Amino acid sequence: MSEASASAEPIEPLAASRAEIERLGLESYIETLDEQGFVLLPPEVADPGGLAPRMLESILDVAERRSGHRPDLDGGSSHVDFKVGNPFIENDSPWGEMVKSLIHEGPVFEEAMMNPVVLALVTHLCGYSAILSSYSALVKGPNKSDFDFHSDILLPAPWPDHALVCNATYVLTPFDREHGSTVFVPGSHKWGHGPTVAQSKVDEHPDAVAIEAEPGSVFVWHGNTWHGAFHREKSGLRVSTPILFARPYMRTEEDLFGNVSEESLERNVERFAWITQQGISYGWANHEDALKRSPRAFEYMERYAEAMDGIPRLNPMDYEGDLING
Ligand SMILES: [Fe+2]
Repeated sequence: MSEASASAEPIEPLAASRAEIERLGLESYIETLDEQGFVLLPPEVADPGGLAPRMLESILDVAERRSGHRPDLDGGSSHVDFKVGNPFIENDSPWGEMVKSLIHEGPVFEEAMMNPVVLALVTHLCGYSAILSSYSALVKGPNKSDFDFHSDILLPAPWPDHALVCNATYVLTPFDREHGSTVFVPGSHKWGHGPTVAQSKVDEHPDAVAIEAEPGSVFVWHGNTWHGAFHREKSGLRVSTPILFARPYMRTEEDLFGNVSEESLERNVERFAWITQQGISYGWANHEDALKRSPRAFEYMERYAEAMDGIPRLNPMDYEGDLING
């Protein structure tokens, strides 16, 4: 059975993406996203199945397994003025602890990433060829450092209007300014450049908007959008999972080709394999690796395109197509 929610026609990628947005009733959120560069989806839209509590418990489990002690969710004592051990960050971490590589940590994270609502917005921003760049949790306790405004694109300006990367973040504990919320500058995705140092202070920008959200919400933003975070004044922990997606020609944070379990590939639809980079042929280490990598990548590319009724136009060497890339 096809993974595409639209019928076999139309197969033009933009029309298919639009049809999916309409099927899910997301038109008003897309309008906000395009206008402001970010959008907040409430739990009843973003997480009707109630994944958030399971994600939160799993993150606490993973953090405990890796560090040897369980994060103090209610008191925050485990993460007061948390330091990351990075010589470039002298003070406490503006984002707390980053618990990395969650795609390897079980089905709940796979399900959250493959959430049709999340993927509809990601597809709108980065196309059907969007892949996973990184999948982390941020665990932030009471701290002093704000997270300065920046954009996630990490390229020299001027930037293109379309998103080269985008981010979907699950809110797993209450978010507002005192809780150390993420903050955005509406419309900044249209400016084509990042903030100067003078523009980067989150408590000084006149147009800054802090996310106020309850667990189970998801906020999504265009990779050009200026964002940061307020320091956390309350006790307890702020936990969220930023899932960073990228167009397939961008350098991703995580290297996943051949590095996700066969079990996870088998229990998910074909788009999961594409998103986790199994269809990316570039990145070979040497001649022998290239000989092995390309056939495997093309197989996953073809399987994804076939499962989606040919909507994603992924193969740039396919001159029989009309070269509209998905
Ligand atoms: Fe960021």
